Amino acid sequence: MSTEVLHHENRLFSPDPSFVAQANVSGMEAYHALCAEARQDPDAFWGRLAKENLYWQRPFTKVLDESNPPFFKWFEDGLTNASYNCLERQIQKGNAQKTAILFEADDGSVTSITYQALYARVCRFANGLKALGVGKGDRVVIYIPMSIEGVVAMQACARIGATHSVVFGGFSAKSLQERIVDVGATALITADEQRRGGKSLPLKTIVDEALALGGCEALKTVVIYQRTGGNIPFVAGRDHWMHAVEEGQPETCEPEWVSAEHPLFVLYTSGSTGKPKGVQHSTGGYLLWASLTMTWVFDIKPADVFWCTADIGWVTGHSYIAYGPLAVGATQVVFEGVPTYPNAGRFWDMIARHGVTVFYTAPTAIRSLIKASDADPAAHPRNFNLSTLRLLGSVGEPINPEAWMWYYKNVGHERCPIVDTFWQTETGGHMITPLPGATPLVPGSCTLPLPGIEAAIVDETGHDMPNGQGGILVVKRPWPAMIRTIWGDPERFQKSYYPAELQGYYLAGDGAIRDEKSGYFTITGRIDDVLNVSGHRMGTMEIESALVANPLVAEAAVVGRPDDMTGEAIVAYVVLKQARPEGDEAKKIATELRNWVGKEIGPIAKPKEIRFGDNLPKTRSGKIMRRLLRVIAKGDEVTQDISTLENPAILSQLKETL
Ligand code: WT7
Repeated sequence: MSTEVLHHENRLFSPDPSFVAQANVSGMEAYHALCAEARQDPDAFWGRLAKENLYWQRPFTKVLDESNPPFFKWFEDGLTNASYNCLERQIQKGNAQKTAILFEADDGSVTSITYQALYARVCRFANGLKALGVGKGDRVVIYIPMSIEGVVAMQACARIGATHSVVFGGFSAKSLQERIVDVGATALITADEQRRGGKSLPLKTIVDEALALGGCEALKTVVIYQRTGGNIPFVAGRDHWMHAVEEGQPETCEPEWVSAEHPLFVLYTSGSTGKPKGVQHSTGGYLLWASLTMTWVFDIKPADVFWCTADIGWVTGHSYIAYGPLAVGATQVVFEGVPTYPNAGRFWDMIARHGVTVFYTAPTAIRSLIKASDADPAAHPRNFNLSTLRLLGSVGEPINPEAWMWYYKNVGHERCPIVDTFWQTETGGHMITPLPGATPLVPGSCTLPLPGIEAAIVDETGHDMPNGQGGILVVKRPWPAMIRTIWGDPERFQKSYYPAELQGYYLAGDGAIRDEKSGYFTITGRIDDVLNVSGHRMGTMEIESALVANPLVAEAAVVGRPDDMTGEAIVAYVVLKQARPEGDEAKKIATELRNWVGKEIGPIAKPKEIRFGDNLPKTRSGKIMRRLLRVIAKGDEVTQDISTLENPAILSQLKETL
């Protein structure tokens, strides 16, 4: 948590003059000019961009309504439709026969679809959803694998004004049920099964399990995309095949013109309490930022082939698969499988075969592919023709300078800038990131905020910290793509993101530091009880609640520990109702508990390590001293003052690994 990262590589990587010459934002002067325009008159700046980048069926008359902070409203009386912007608008611009999506399945088979064909499919499915009684304002949960159908489902909801809530296909029945209940879904779109790494995994069966848990009575309709043809339960009257829903429907569907503030989607993410937060996003402001960042940060031009490897179950897959690329008329690759199947050369092979020009992935994937290509030289990027690449991106967690350098050299051949994009589910799109044709790069730093984003580092009372001193990352002014509220819980929204002490600034939940000279930002990690495991956000409380729900468990405390591969790893300290187990029994119970967490939340939440104690380290007032647990999770010696600790002996027990 120091300036270590910035000092690690003293080199600056300046963009190539030929890249700069052709960039959408060309040179630092252009960047500074945009920043100045935004600062001088934010309304004029955002108003201009909204007019230039989106179609408005009825123009807005007011840009920002700040009368009731932090409930900001953007372009509110403007009418638009996200799906219209992504489809009809592209067809009108001459992109009808352009490939919208190149879909590559787990087994390597490729299906491509043009803008015209995608438009027809979205319209047919939208009409079908309407025929099933789904309409404006309804919430539709989508629990589907990476597919053209996933994008069609999201776009069709947007077209008819239904608010979608995509749940990542790796979440358990229980997590799915909680989200269905919280968002009040009346319909759900899923698939029979999903294919990953050569295997079929259940989806529809999990949906049925989720619905059987109760509380989902409002959900009347389940639509199933037939992906594998595997055997699944089918409830007559409630369940419908996606192809049957589309069949015979007209290939046009008048979009539902909605206010720019209409909730396009709710996406659940982890916070510092046990209950995930339903992050509610708007239509107009969100789509504006998804488009603008495609143009500015990914420098998208008509001939590009863009590939974002995220899943549509995360915000990255919303902004940079389902909406952003289509809103700017780009061709994109959508991938069903995993980076290591049939071998760890899959990404590089796909880049070569599809002629990918802009590639966006997560540091955790890069680190695992570095390791894999050490073990299997045939999987090394040097074996593939990556000459079409011109720009690389990174997202989801801090990228360590070693991984950055490897990516820069072996994938980008020291020719492609890397945009290290810092943002969050709540921000809707990139916030702090280099602009590839402008910003000199420093490995490990996300560099500077985008124009219009007033990011700053402050202390606990909202006062600016000088450069070179770490603090709390905030955003001082509202921006169009920001979270609007937490679904059904405006109070929690206000408390979590606009705490009174911070003078009206948006609290990101991350710590950060700015370089003394350049002012570049480096993110130092979460300052709340949120972990980042392989770029997946997990709340420690969520995992603790899952553990204590097990009949064997009396108490549990979960912390993160740095991990070379996954960024952070989950370590759980558990007190059982029975005596502290040892040896094989301890191992057996640990496996049982890990699987239990997998069932309760999903495999991504399984603790890497479980340690058992007779008790947990607590202060005399009974508060668990997580700080100490973090120290011993790393294997470090406790040097802190433990005089307030009620039961110091417990520490030596908890240092023991299984
Ligand atoms: C958290 C947000 C961004 C979309 C995917 C994750 C961490 C994200 C970076 C980055 C350092 C990063 C932060 C943030 N994070 N990108 N480039 N450098 N940290 O969205 O699940 O909402 O997680 O991911 O800690 O708060 P998310």
